[in-house]
Amino acid sequence: MHLLPFAWLVLGCVFCFCQAAPTNDDDFVSYSEFQVWKITTRSNEENKLVLQMIRHYGFEAWKDSDAISAPIGVLIPPPFLEEMKLKLAATNISYEVEISDLQTAINDENASVNVSAITTKMAHKMDWTSYHRLDDIYGYLKYLADTYPKLVRLIDIGTSYEDRPLYVVRISNSSSPDTQPAVWIDAGIHAREWISPAVATYILHQLVEEPTNVGLLLNVDWYIMPIMNPDGYEYTHMKNRLWRKTRSKTSSKKCRGVDANRNFGYQWGGAGSSRDPCAIKFRGANAFSEPETLATSNFITEKSKQIKLYLTLHSFGQVFLLPWGHSVTYPSDYDEMKSLAKNATSKFKRYKYRVGNLAAVLYRASGNSADWAKSIGIDYSYTVELPAKDFLLPASRILPVSQDFFPALEVFAAKVATLKVTYSFPA
Ligand SMILES: *[C@@H]1O[C@H](CO)[C@@H](O)[C@H](O)[C@H]1NC(C)=O
Ligand SMILES: *[C@@H]1O[C@H](CO)[C@@H](O)[C@H](O)[C@H]1NC(C)=O
Ligand SMILES: *[C@@H]1O[C@H](CO)[C@@H](O)[C@H](O)[C@H]1NC(C)=O
Ligand SMILES: *[C@@H]1O[C@H](CO)[C@@H](O)[C@H](O)[C@H]1NC(C)=O
Ligand SMILES: *[C@@H]1O[C@H](CO)[C@@H](O)[C@H](O)[C@H]1NC(C)=O
Ligand SMILES: [Zn+2]
Repeated sequence: MHLLPFAWLVLGCVFCFCQAAPTNDDDFVSYSEFQVWKITTRSNEENKLVLQMIRHYGFEAWKDSDAISAPIGVLIPPPFLEEMKLKLAATNISYEVEISDLQTAINDENASVNVSAITTKMAHKMDWTSYHRLDDIYGYLKYLADTYPKLVRLIDIGTSYEDRPLYVVRISNSSSPDTQPAVWIDAGIHAREWISPAVATYILHQLVEEPTNVGLLLNVDWYIMPIMNPDGYEYTHMKNRLWRKTRSKTSSKKCRGVDANRNFGYQWGGAGSSRDPCAIKFRGANAFSEPETLATSNFITEKSKQIKLYLTLHSFGQVFLLPWGHSVTYPSDYDEMKSLAKNATSKFKRYKYRVGNLAAVLYRASGNSADWAKSIGIDYSYTVELPAKDFLLPASRILPVSQDFFPALEVFAAKVATLKVTYSFPA
């Protein structure tokens, strides 16, 4: 999620195991013997009790609906398994072990594909049957720009905290690009939500390399940023699969990183964000403290007359979320935004998505990117939680999720094509 890392409800996570710095930040974090439980409560009392336990231990938890009966997913470190088992038994609350060893699930996530069969003959290493490192993804962006120079431009918009380039891909078949209305799509704000960049690169592939999709380029430009947080992304591959934040140093010696989706400069610092550098939802020392959010927001601002629709991809939850997220309030054109989202989600065949107000459906999330985009006048602004069962999504699901999602873009492109660019030419 955008909000939460992967999921939904990080319940007042005072001290989150998964994001707490290990003794040495460069150590590999193993989730060996960590378990994911689904706890189902039958009453308000039971629900409260479980939430209390979660808060007490500082476990990371998430939930996919506000209904009391919806199971609560909880990540439990090995030393607490026995204790939790006893506590739940004592209160007669039922649970199910969904993942019995998280590290094994992590190791199994990237199916071993026959790479040599697929890619040796190709000029890039990208496919949608496995999760790729940043080099493969950036290599694919360069390949697209080199191979389709009339359609694709790779725009370097800045560098990350650890000096990795930040790339936006522009796709335009106009003889005068930058004058058409445009769709913006970003992914990978939250490092561990691997399905999000995978879907973004799939969208790039479809728009650029699949001739049957030319209609989507008619009168519409596309700006796609497949990885907004490359440092975090690489860190999830090398050190800690469940890392969510950026990798910047903070005022705390032992905790790094800012939740980039709490770092945008609209209603920054409000509910649903934390001032604690060790918290998973740490908002940063100030709005746009992170080079990643600063560069992204500068670029979007520059193109804000052109960009008519803002889409940010997260996981998980199967939900389309509308502003505002800083509080349960609704923009005056909420019904119009919702109507478009409903039309888009009606294209999904395999995975059904809910549509609703971010703060109402999930939780409050001040400083999130979609609120900010809306605030600068991008009327259609959405946060998407892609499907997944929990933190991890086997690589074999990348294609089904991507293929199911893509047709929604037809609805967005058709709408955006009808909107006028209020472009003020330099005097
Ligand atoms: C515990 O819950 C089960 C149903 O899940 C119920 O049949 C049983 O009576 C309960 N026991 C106690 C002691 O509440
Ligand atoms: C991978 O594909 C190549 C070429 O098709 C084949 O020769 C090889 O046996 C395959 N390897 C595996 C492990 O399937
Ligand atoms: C997943 O597999 C791809 C090759 O298909 C490889 O490039 C990548 O590094 C692997 N990722 C992980 C996390 O193992
Ligand atoms: C791009 O536009 C030209 C005409 O300007 C058209 O012939 C061509 O089919 C278009 N290509 C795509 C991919 O839209
Ligand atoms: C959604 O689709 C309906 C039926 O085609 C249409 O009347 C409505 O205008 C669409 N909503 C938006 C916001 O485009
Ligand atoms: Zn997220």
